[in-house]
Amino acid sequence: MVPKISTLSGYLHEYQKSIVHPEIFWERIAESFHWRKPWEKVLEWDFNKPEVKWFVGGKLNITENIFERHACMKGDTPAIIWEPNDPSEPHKIFTYKQLWDEVNKFANVLKSLGVKKGDRITIYLPMIPELAIAMLASARIGAIHSIVFAGFSAKALAERNNDAQSKILITADGSFRGPKTIPLKQTADEALHMSGSIEKVIVVKRTGQQVRMKEGRDLWWHELMKNAATECKAETMDAEDPLFILYTSGSTGKPKGILHTTGGYMIYAAYTFRNVFQYTDGDIYFCAADIGWITGHSYIIYGPLLEGATTLMFEGIPTYPKPDRYWQIIEKFKVNQFYTSPTAIRSLLAQGEEWADKYDMPSLKVLGTVGEPINEEAWHWYHNHVGKGRCPIVDTWWQTETGGIMISPLAGITPTKPAYATLPLPGIRPVIMDADGKPLKGNNVEGSLCIEFPWPGMARTVWGDHQRYKEVYFTAYPGKYFTGDGVKRDEDGYYRILGRIDDVINVSGHRLGTAEIENAINEHPLVAESAVVGYPHPIKGQGIYAFVVAPARPGNLDEELRNSIRQGVAKLISPIAKPDKIQFVSGLPKTRSGKIMRRILRKIVAGSSDYGDTSTLTNPGIVNEIQKGFEALKDG
Ligand code: WTA
Repeated sequence: MVPKISTLSGYLHEYQKSIVHPEIFWERIAESFHWRKPWEKVLEWDFNKPEVKWFVGGKLNITENIFERHACMKGDTPAIIWEPNDPSEPHKIFTYKQLWDEVNKFANVLKSLGVKKGDRITIYLPMIPELAIAMLASARIGAIHSIVFAGFSAKALAERNNDAQSKILITADGSFRGPKTIPLKQTADEALHMSGSIEKVIVVKRTGQQVRMKEGRDLWWHELMKNAATECKAETMDAEDPLFILYTSGSTGKPKGILHTTGGYMIYAAYTFRNVFQYTDGDIYFCAADIGWITGHSYIIYGPLLEGATTLMFEGIPTYPKPDRYWQIIEKFKVNQFYTSPTAIRSLLAQGEEWADKYDMPSLKVLGTVGEPINEEAWHWYHNHVGKGRCPIVDTWWQTETGGIMISPLAGITPTKPAYATLPLPGIRPVIMDADGKPLKGNNVEGSLCIEFPWPGMARTVWGDHQRYKEVYFTAYPGKYFTGDGVKRDEDGYYRILGRIDDVINVSGHRLGTAEIENAINEHPLVAESAVVGYPHPIKGQGIYAFVVAPARPGNLDEELRNSIRQGVAKLISPIAKPDKIQFVSGLPKTRSGKIMRRILRKIVAGSSDYGDTSTLTNPGIVNEIQKGFEALKDG
């Protein structure tokens, strides 16, 4: 197990050590894992290239560090508790031994289909145990998993299949989500028309609905697993061999395949899991994220399982059948640590206090939040009504690219402050930059959040496009990793994340690029162009506001057109990317070089009329028109 910090002075001491001697610090943590061959060098790095390598020359397999490493102690310990969407369906428990058998069996299935080390596998599954089994089996044989959130459209899935050139797609007949049954295989079929690299499709039977199985290509999971052997030797991986790709949205262009490698990611996920949540052996830990996002990768699967923890995986949604589903699960399994998003907290708060107040939840020790800034009201509600005033809240700031939690309290150790992610974890060196690219020293400062020293869990590249990795993360502030977030450091040196300062919108904790949504809107035959910005939304944190130029639209059919634009976006990206508000405008504010001045649009939707300098606009008159239209839409 990784070393666990247990006091505030312990944290300060470890932090200091990690800054003065980072290599010695991380080496000590790496030593708690099983390496087939030790590393020759702890770290090689150059943020200008950029290039980062941890535990150079070390050989290992991450699943060996989950299964073989815990085998004698943990064989009968529950690894995964799976709770289905419908509370009347029985839950399932997989001990470490049982999970290991399933992972080995599926690893053998993959091998029998010709999957080799370095091949890509796309996993497009709902939150069912097969998702965990598939990802671990992929890691077992050295393949690279690319998990695509099951809420993404066929087009989004195909784009990801093609970018990664995946050989195998793993999906299910359908998925259950609250009262709905979603035809997942049907969406996958649509994607497969556009996914040339996929050779085989493995289909899990979940809903039992009718699906089309293409002869020679589509195979049933349960049939493949029937005779698979439960022994499968883990592939030897270099510390820097890829473990997974996870696509995420950025300011521009199509989603980027963020690449994480094996050794550093493993150590970082495990270390941060143990320390942030203060996990004690025997605890039941429940992270309510989806494995389709990084939170699920690091804190439902890898972090907890590497530490021999019991992790709860939930298929459903917080409001089905009633808005007390989380609280019911917490009581049913005596959950000790619970981790969710501010959007989930706000939406449950909006359902009324009585739902959480009915449950005492005496087992709870720690509450966590992630994915977006938490407002103070939601923080207090979470603390008082869920944690009954006894549980520390860990507001964990991190990103797909960081692999694990970066700035966060350690539960019960770091004094908390509502809406503050508080202090950096050991090994993390945040720096706040001003508009001129100079670091802001001291406290009471606000600027762009950068990290000035590598940490083991950081992404190594963008799949197939290292140049883009450099441009997006290492160019704005040369020699530093730029996060895209604004941040404030207060008088106590505590960090408060202010939100994205690039063209990324954070809707319910989901990252969406404005350019991506605009491209989807512009596909509509009646749309000439569009501009999308985020606006403050009481539940989702940010909502999507689209300004749309559609000069040839029929009169009196604006509402119909709005709906059809929304449907188009859902089809091209996902229902999560549908604009909340659509305002038709005759033009967009543009500079002489033709760039849309989003700054002005952001101000308008935030209700401000302080637009700053508009003299460089080719069409300054448009601002007034847009402002008036905004007011009318708000009041209407
Ligand atoms: C935002 C999710 C405020 C931030 C793990 C970041 C947060 C983006 C917090 C990454 C937090 C994440 N407080 N904002 N505690 N955690 N964010 O890649 O803007 O899906 O850049 O990773 O979410 O989103 P991603």
